[in-house]
Amino acid sequence: MIKIVTVIGARPQIIKAAALSRAIAKEYSGRITEVIVHTGQHYDANMSQIFFEELGIPAPDYNLGVGSGQHGRQTARMIEGLENILLEEKPDFLVLYGDTNSTLAGAISASKLHIPIAHIEAGLRSFNKTMPEEINRIMCDHASALLFSPTITGYNNLIREGFKTGNSGPFTSDNPAIYHCGDVMYDNTLHFSGLAQKPADVLITGEKYILATIHRDNNTDNPVRLSAIFSALHHFSLKHKQQVIIPLHPRTSGLLQKNLTGNLFADVSDNQFIGIIPPVSFLEMTWLEKNASQILTDSGGVQKEAYFFRKPCVIARPETEWVEIVYTGAGIIADADETRITQALEFFENNPVIDFPAVFGDGKAAEFICGEILKALVR
Ligand code: UD1
Ligand code: UDP
Repeated sequence: MIKIVTVIGARPQIIKAAALSRAIAKEYSGRITEVIVHTGQHYDANMSQIFFEELGIPAPDYNLGVGSGQHGRQTARMIEGLENILLEEKPDFLVLYGDTNSTLAGAISASKLHIPIAHIEAGLRSFNKTMPEEINRIMCDHASALLFSPTITGYNNLIREGFKTGNSGPFTSDNPAIYHCGDVMYDNTLHFSGLAQKPADVLITGEKYILATIHRDNNTDNPVRLSAIFSALHHFSLKHKQQVIIPLHPRTSGLLQKNLTGNLFADVSDNQFIGIIPPVSFLEMTWLEKNASQILTDSGGVQKEAYFFRKPCVIARPETEWVEIVYTGAGIIADADETRITQALEFFENNPVIDFPAVFGDGKAAEFICGEILKALVR
């Protein structure tokens, strides 16, 4: 029996972890034991607890309760807590997801203790180092022993950074293995799509609606950018008499009134077509994605889920790591530019996307990852 410690902390990591926990329970329960550590980076019930209940993830064995804070303080508190747990648990592998501060803290803690790291969602790059996530994922990749890339672009990014194909074990951060294995989020979408639930408090009034999420710091914290995004949605909704449903991240709700310029906050609040709601559960989000006509987002995960559900996606960022979505024509990068967002929404309103080639794997990425972790230990 091998022991892995999985570190999660932010909403998307909890969701991604469901796929691996499910694969372990289904196929590897006699061979892999999983200890789950929640850093406490996200802590509101609708940003954390709800996903454990709904997605059947085992309760965390530890919760560091770190909470919100400046990057350095938040990450440092995680490192301190994780180091103690890793010394106690002595896992064979540490499993990390994505690119958050919880990921970075896990990478630093484990690498100092020479515990090999398996990084799920390795190789993604925005080539924009002003994003905290870009720093986190580069540092995590270069401290990892097993790097699981969901896309071929991510895999090729790793090769460009000097990672080699064909290494043989034992794998360490000096002799890592890289894999192109598909996306655990696609595994989840296939598994949970049929269980999608309409959010009880949301009234859909027309035939079509846009689903939107915004939470990136460069959008929420910048009044010009945040206002450009909301102004575009406001005017599009009025022009087309089309609802815009926005399950709003707590970071954004906390800044909306302060950072929408001029009368925009009042205009958006008075706009009957704009429905700003608290974060919804994963099954509710899945329902909203499945039934939307198009999706506008700065989220990484929501861009991909738009694609899984064959919905066009307007990307409110200057670039994306998920370039396949743009190359296939299913996504348009519109940044936080009111004109570009409006043009992209209008384009997709009039030109539905019909081709969504399979670029995120076969829905079995988690099984593959478990298998490779096991193999890495017996080589
Ligand atoms: C974090 C990740 C980001 C990821 C996002 C997913 C980093 C650097 N950023 O961003 O990559 O896309 O999670 O959602 O790790 N807050 C609450 N309740 C909560 C959680 C957060 O009110 O349960 C509010 C607090 O005001 C907090 C703010 O949101 O200061 C930001 O939270 P934080 O975890 O620092 O970053 P996110 O913006 O959520
Ligand atoms: N999500 C959710 N409820 C919401 C908004 C998002 O369950 O109200 C899910 C979404 O379906 C996806 C994940 O959260 O699986 C994406 O997380 P987020 O946008 O917070 O972070 P990112 O992917 O950008 O890191």
